[in-house]
Amino acid sequence: MPQIKKILLFGVLYLLVIFMVACSGDNGSETDSNEGNESASDEQVTIVYATGVDTTGATESQIEAFEQEYPHINVEYREMPADTGQQHDQYVTMFGSQSSEVDVYNGDIIWAAEFAQANYALELDRFIEADSFNLDNHFDGPIQAGNYNGRQWALPIYMNASFLYYRTDITDTPPATWDELIEQAEEMQGEEGTEFGYLMQGSQYEGMVTNFIEIIASYGGSVIDENNNVVINSPETIKGLEKFAEIAQSDFVPGNILNFQEIETENAWIAGDAVFARNWTYMQSSSNDEARSEVAGNVDIAPIPAGDEGSTSALGGWMAMINRYSEHPEESWELVKFLASEEGQKKGALEGARAPTVESLYNDPEVQEAGPLFSNPSFVEGLSVAVPRPVSPIYPEISEIIQIEVSRVLTGEQTAEEAVENMEAQLEAALEE
Ligand code: GLC
Repeated sequence: MPQIKKILLFGVLYLLVIFMVACSGDNGSETDSNEGNESASDEQVTIVYATGVDTTGATESQIEAFEQEYPHINVEYREMPADTGQQHDQYVTMFGSQSSEVDVYNGDIIWAAEFAQANYALELDRFIEADSFNLDNHFDGPIQAGNYNGRQWALPIYMNASFLYYRTDITDTPPATWDELIEQAEEMQGEEGTEFGYLMQGSQYEGMVTNFIEIIASYGGSVIDENNNVVINSPETIKGLEKFAEIAQSDFVPGNILNFQEIETENAWIAGDAVFARNWTYMQSSSNDEARSEVAGNVDIAPIPAGDEGSTSALGGWMAMINRYSEHPEESWELVKFLASEEGQKKGALEGARAPTVESLYNDPEVQEAGPLFSNPSFVEGLSVAVPRPVSPIYPEISEIIQIEVSRVLTGEQTAEEAVENMEAQLEAALEE
């Protein structure tokens, strides 16, 4: 069976199991977030909320709304690096020394297993139960991303899928395949003052891993299968990786594409420098922000180009977690609950074009207006088939192996065949330990 079908089939089975488990539980309705006020003491408490750089203003507006509803809780906003890997490492240092300097933090959906195991996150089950917080009105994938060993360590704030952004003043027919992308990027580069045909994330970091995962998946390749077997050494993965390298080494991407993360992509994109760009959902927001963007009104979104097996996106997203060493777990929970609630997520969607995990928000007219994608049924469908990264407490190690070996292909230091052999050996050794 082609790999992509396996991924989809596994996904469907997974969802089915989750659904059955969810149905067997006792789920009350989500509490109104105002209810938290009633138990509030008069004492004023300040909690620190840490998130990666947010260029959209969504975080600030969420904090403002939260503080209005919970006047006894002040939220101090701590900005962390934009790079998820750098954020991760700072938290590991912080929580590794049992620091209580941060109370609530945004966790990447790849962190829950590791942070649960390392005892960095506070279990949320007792809070969820006490407040009858309803998990059922969220998509399953992001809820499951916060669940490890049958317990909930995080609640989703928004989910991410990637898209091909394109300039509607240059083309009406965005490329459907990687080969068409290469052709059109070469041909259209230079039109309407653009300098580049295409932008993506080629820097050696987690974002590059997501670019890699989706391009290999579009050719039918994957890293680890559902039984934890390393399956990376396949003709499909080699083909996808070769395509990735061909693009990275082309003349239609910036010469320093191997330094590009999401922020560099966004800056060059809104400056009007490129015809096409790969980025997450949120770039809808800055693309159409007239105050910041040179290309407002001239941007639309298409699925990520397809390989031999179809188009895929990596599944991304962020969850709210509580530092196990927080001195204010109750107040921290109120913030987590707010951020994950329909109300909190709606703010994120309106201000930051963040894709909600609360399914009903896609029918909300204000949300639909905020991001053209949110009213598009194929977008919502796309979110539900996005390809997850391997779920493992040693995910950082897995990612680092991929980062190093794939980077050496993008720079031309080794072939795709050599890289998959190296990754296979190193991943097997890491998983065996
Ligand atoms: C986005 C995704 C996150 C991913 C990161 C990679 O923030 O939401 O899941 O790890 O990009 O840069």
